[in-house]
Amino acid sequence: MQTYRICYRARINWTRLKHALPDEIDHSLNRIRQMNRRAGVTGALLLADEHMIQFLEGSTGPVLETVYCAMSDERLYDMEAIFHEPARERLFPNSLMFFRDLTGSVAASRYPQLRPLIDRPEKLTRDEGLSALHTFAGDVVQSSLTNGMLMLA
Ligand SMILES: Cc1cc2nc3c(=O)[nH]c(=O)nc-3n(C[C@H](O)[C@H](O)[C@H](O)COP(=O)(O)O)c2cc1C
Repeated sequence: MQTYRICYRARINWTRLKHALPDEIDHSLNRIRQMNRRAGVTGALLLADEHMIQFLEGSTGPVLETVYCAMSDERLYDMEAIFHEPARERLFPNSLMFFRDLTGSVAASRYPQLRPLIDRPEKLTRDEGLSALHTFAGDVVQSSLTNGMLMLA
């Protein structure tokens, strides 16, 4: 079946968070992964200062519905598409929603391809988005050889 993928960036509306950030993330990821399991959607969510970048992949209908669901979430605003396209295979086949907080992280200083995610006010290009995602997609594929619990990642 055809895979479709969408990547977007959005700003976080801090005033709309109900809990302290770590709890908000935990709670939201649980809920998101539950919904994505049902929809057959996988992907990644990267937090970087004021922004978050989300990557979603799966069948076209469920991926679009998931984006609409995120778009109507009042915790996000100023959404901008980075890319949306058909794909031959999934980048995060074992992750209902892989998550990394890149804010002040060592990862961003070690991997130059993550820098545009942190300090770029202008729009990210498709290549910048994909190359950042590939940093973690490799990780997930490699660790899935040894870690059967990755559906939780
Ligand atoms: C950063 C972010 C990412 C989201 N990602 C997803 C997602 O991958 N799948 C999904 O179904 N909903 C996603 N949403 C939507 C929320 O999960 C949804 O609006 C929220 O859980 C409210 O639903 P509830 O009131 O039924 O819990 C996302 C929302 C935010 C803020």
